[in-house]
Amino acid sequence: MLRQNDGMGQFAKQIITWQQQSGRHDLPWQNTRDPYQIWVSEIMLQQTQVNAVIGYYAKFMARFPDVATLAAAPLDDVMQHWAGLGYYARARNLHKSAVMIMAHFGGVFPGTFDEVLSLPGIGRSTAAAICAFAYGQRGAILDGNVKRVLARRFGVTGDVRSKLIEEQLWQVAEREVPNNDIEAYTQGLMDLGATVCTRGQPSCLLCPLRRQCVAFNDGMIDQLPGRGARKETPHRQTRMLVMLHANSVLIERRPPTGIWGGLWSLPEIAMESDVLAVAKSKFGITPSKGRRPRPLAEIEHGFTHYSLTIYPTEIAVAKRELSAEEPGILWLDLADISTAALPAPVKKILLALEHKAKTKK
Ligand code: ADE
Repeated sequence: MLRQNDGMGQFAKQIITWQQQSGRHDLPWQNTRDPYQIWVSEIMLQQTQVNAVIGYYAKFMARFPDVATLAAAPLDDVMQHWAGLGYYARARNLHKSAVMIMAHFGGVFPGTFDEVLSLPGIGRSTAAAICAFAYGQRGAILDGNVKRVLARRFGVTGDVRSKLIEEQLWQVAEREVPNNDIEAYTQGLMDLGATVCTRGQPSCLLCPLRRQCVAFNDGMIDQLPGRGARKETPHRQTRMLVMLHANSVLIERRPPTGIWGGLWSLPEIAMESDVLAVAKSKFGITPSKGRRPRPLAEIEHGFTHYSLTIYPTEIAVAKRELSAEEPGILWLDLADISTAALPAPVKKILLALEHKAKTKK
């Protein structure tokens, strides 16, 4: 299963040299030692690619430049800055951590691995990455990309999602951590996994580890990292009301927990409900005479643990009783959709609608 480690430090040396020559050096969260900036970037980069993060990171930093500003901000404001990025527990934990840092660490981002690990939303790998980049502290990281690099290079077979294989990979990760240049090493592992040792069609000929790589030498690139039998992801369906009045659409704030907790969204109703009855009783609207509710194109959205099909139903509204001042309800101008803080699939439904409205004019 595990091959012997070949020569102390060779792996780390190869990663460091490659990072210095071919890795990424100008990402917005690099070239700083500010643990706050590094923390926010590492949380945004969990399960999210660099390209998707860059714009969000700049806006987040402009609005919340330090721990104190983040802690003092209403959670709602933080959520709005996260809208569209996904995995919203990250934003809630970021805010909760900022409040904890003000209360328990005197407003100063903690300086030890154990303290960093104690903050909500920070696991073993993220804590090590923050401590490496901010403080130059030695520690092992193991995110999805790094698992792939290690499984291939050291020929670790078996399901990487199993506890047993994950533990083996942590052992390899710990064993290879160098005594020096932890920043370049940590960044190099991440960069190699993201740009060279990719999941499909990796660029092995550009890889500094190729000569020693077990997967490359044994023709096992396609098989590693190993996956167990594929489990069917559960599928859910939901209906959303698209209530249109003049040039605006009704949106409501979602409850604080659950998917898209705290974000604004189209109202979600049970698949089998009577859409007009709900629209009237819950949102106080009078539908336009002679205009029946109309199904719009459905949207598929993938979450980590399930997939969701959204069935939007359009209702033309003649009269609205609930005003914009009603708490938790808002009539959003269609012209403002592209800049509104909405979950990505909801924005997609509304942008399609706005596009149609524009081309009709
Ligand atoms: N993924 C996780 N952390 C990262 C970082 N600091 N740079 C690039 N990609 C990352």
